[in-house]
Amino acid sequence: MIDEKLNESLNNHVNRELYSSYLYISMSAYFASIDLNGLAQWMKIQAQEEMSHAEKFFDFINGRGGRVILQSIAAPENQWESPLKVFEDTLAHEIEVTKGINELVDVALKTKDHATHNFLQWFVAEQVEEEATANTILQKLRLIKDDTTGLFMLDAELGKRKFTTPTP
Ligand code: FEO
Repeated sequence: MIDEKLNESLNNHVNRELYSSYLYISMSAYFASIDLNGLAQWMKIQAQEEMSHAEKFFDFINGRGGRVILQSIAAPENQWESPLKVFEDTLAHEIEVTKGINELVDVALKTKDHATHNFLQWFVAEQVEEEATANTILQKLRLIKDDTTGLFMLDAELGKRKFTTPTP
């Protein structure tokens, strides 16, 4: 059985992952609206990945005899001034998610819940990758600046992304 406070913190995190999915699908819609279809595809896959993160938490809470209580998901932004701004927001968002994961680890340690601590380690590693990926694309966009050819090349490269279920 899982500690009530820990269960509540995990439920809050399910909401954070679902919001992440909602935010990234909104970014995908923005990219589609300016005909950057590769970036739109990349963000759509990112949204799917976030949904799979939420599902991991969902299954874990249920598997531990906890109770998943879903909360309302806030409306995400729907307009950005540039692709660069989108990836600034993406990196800032991932840094917030990392903080959330770290807080969960703190609660797991405080309640001496080693199973949850162990479960969370996958997310600790995943967040390193999430921040690094967002930062890499952000740096490329900074280099590209107003170079349309560079932007189209990046769009073509990122449009190749395919969804693969994250392995535990
Ligand atoms: Fe599920 Fe991008 O963090």
